[in-house]
Formats: sequence, C-alpha cells, structure tokens
Amino acid sequence: MNARIVSFGAYLPPKVVTNKDLEKMMDTSDEWIQQRSGIKERRWVEEGKDTCSSMAHKACEDALKKANLKADDIDAIIFGSLLTDNVFPGTGVLLQKSLGFSKNIPALDIKNQCSGFLYALSVANAWIKSGMYKRVLVCGSEVHSCRLDKSTRGRDVSVLFGDGAGACILEATDSEQGIIDIHIASQGEFADILCLKEPGSNFDLRRDFKSIEEQNWYPYMEGKTVFKHAVARMTESLSQLLDKNKFKNSDVDFVIAHQANMRINAMVLDQLKIPWEKTHHTIDRYGNTTMATIPLTMGEAVDLGKVKRGDLVSLVAFGAGFTWGSALIRY
Ligand code: ACO
Repeated sequence: MNARIVSFGAYLPPKVVTNKDLEKMMDTSDEWIQQRSGIKERRWVEEGKDTCSSMAHKACEDALKKANLKADDIDAIIFGSLLTDNVFPGTGVLLQKSLGFSKNIPALDIKNQCSGFLYALSVANAWIKSGMYKRVLVCGSEVHSCRLDKSTRGRDVSVLFGDGAGACILEATDSEQGIIDIHIASQGEFADILCLKEPGSNFDLRRDFKSIEEQNWYPYMEGKTVFKHAVARMTESLSQLLDKNKFKNSDVDFVIAHQANMRINAMVLDQLKIPWEKTHHTIDRYGNTTMATIPLTMGEAVDLGKVKRGDLVSLVAFGAGFTWGSALIRY
C-alpha cells in the first residue's frame, strides 16, 4: 500500500499586513524586510473573526471539497500548531467536532514547528502503509500575530511570521503514486536558539509575573544560527534522501521548501543544483506560516498547474527544536 495525496486545502485570513504597515509599528523598512527575507506582506487574523481552530476548519473543508469527500470518509486526524486555541485539549478534537464527524475517529496533536507537516506526513504514511487507516486528514493552523512583539525590540522575529492554515488528505492506494520516502530528524541541544517559553508549566501563575516584564511571552530567535543550520540541514536531508532512493537531483520535477526565508531556499536549491523554476513560493505574500506552510504552498502550486500528477516532488523543511526533514513523493 502507498499513501497518496488526494487534495490540499487552504485558508488565509483576509487582513493583509504590508511591510509599510509594519513601518508604522516599529523601526523597520520595506526594503530591509524584502531584501533579508523576500517577504512583502503577510496575513493577520482580526480579533473575534478567526481562531486557530476556525482557520483549520476552513482549510480542511476546502481539502474535503476538492477531494469530493465528506468528513465521515476520514479515518484519522493529525493536527499541528505552535499556539493552539487551548492549553488542552488539542485542536485535533476541536476540528473533529466542528467538521461534524458521526464516528469517534482518533485525533492526534503534534508540536514540531516548521517541520510539523513532514512529521505529520511520516505518521500518516506509516498508518496508511500498515493498513491501520485508509484515509488521514493532516492540518496545520497558525495564529502567530497574537504573540509577536510588534515593537522595535521584536522586529527581527515579528516581520517574518504570518497567520494561516493548510490541510492535506492522504489515502491508501495500490498504485505507484504516493509517498516514496520521508526523513525526519531533530537536535534538542538547539532548543533554546528558537523558542517561546512562556506561559509553560515552568511559569507559576501564583508567584511569578517577572517573565512578563522580561518578554519571555514573545518568541526568541538567534536568526543567524537558525539560518546557517537551516541551509545545511535542508540541503543534507534532501540530498541523502535522493541518494538513498537512487534518484539524481535532476530527476526532481519540483521542490516545495518551507517558507522561512527566500534566501535560505535560494541557497538550498543552489547547493542541490536544482533550478529556481522548479519551485514555488508563498513567503512573499504569507510570510512564515510554520506548520501550515508546506500544504499551503504545494496546494497553490497544484492549483496553478506547476505540480502535475506523476511528478517527482520533494518537500523539505527546517524549524525550531531544531527539527528538520524531507520527503519524496510521486504526486
Ligand atoms: N528591520 C530592520 N532592521 C532589522 C530588523 C528589521 N525587522 N531585524 C533586525 N534588524 C537589524 C539588526 O538589529 C541588525 O542591526 P545591526 O547590524 O545594527 O546590529 C541588522 O538588521 C542585521 O541583522 P541580522 O540578524 O544580521 O540580519 P540577517 O541578515 O541575519 O537576517 C533574519 C535576519 C531575517 C531573521 C535571518 O537571520 C533569518 O531568516 N533567520 C532564519 C529564520 C528561520 O529560518 N526560522 C526558522 C523557522 S521558524 C520556526 O520553526 C517556528
């Protein structure tokens, strides 16, 4: 059995925040942001209109519609996000409720940051290949805008991230189509290089409000270290996966890379000698949408006819943890 991708779904909140809008909030410039990251604008949710779970719901509905399926045709859900609606329960069960399942399917929540989609894909692939489930819905939804330091102090991080949701449906097939192989890895020694620490369970609400003043409620990132590791790990992961499966880099029809920084992706493609025309970007319009990024970007490439059935597609991502990975798919 192979796990083939049936459809993608997407939802972006309507509010567009341009680099010029950010110039009014902090000491930054459209030129700096575009030059350093490739981002022109991003979406932010508007209070009272969208939440992590409502965006996830809309992306999943889109994926179901494109696959011509109903919720009850799905056997399992895998959901991932940095900041979910609740501390618990996870958003997987909220999605199960809102999509209107009549059966008690499992809903698994994962937390693997920008590599989340590849981690989720590896679980969905194993479930389907083992015969455990026939059809799996994977979804990532991110509301970054509620936890960005929008003052000059947080500008290195806050200009990079956007809100949005992406979904993907996988199903069992006995054809050649589907996931060929996946590599995932992590390196916990770098957990403090890119993180958002509070309010976690170390934060004691009864006595410790110090960290609010210390700004631990906003993400912390050592951008240059992340950048360097991202280029090295993404290149290494994809190149080893291609070797292992006896493909040459030139066999790849299309690459969908995580959208954290256009310059990271340019360097990875350059090192792999894969031409720029064989990729698609959403970072210019959506920024980094973490776990939602790969399904959003690949779904858009499919809709635009850039990725066609039968193509050999590579996915590659890197994120906080550090976590990273790559996948090879006969789409
Ligand atoms: N506007 C204007 N100036 C800025 C901004 C800003 N938004 N942010 C930083 N600067 C300044 C800095 O203060 C610094 O000034 P200085 O030279 O006077 O000290 C200068 O610009 C250069 O800063 P650098 O950090 O050296 O800039 P760099 O070229 O490294 O780009 C960036 C920074 C865009 C953050 C880059 O390092 C990057 O993209 N890193 C990787 C991000 C990433 O991949 N994240 C992983 C995924 S996220 C996840 O998993 C949740």
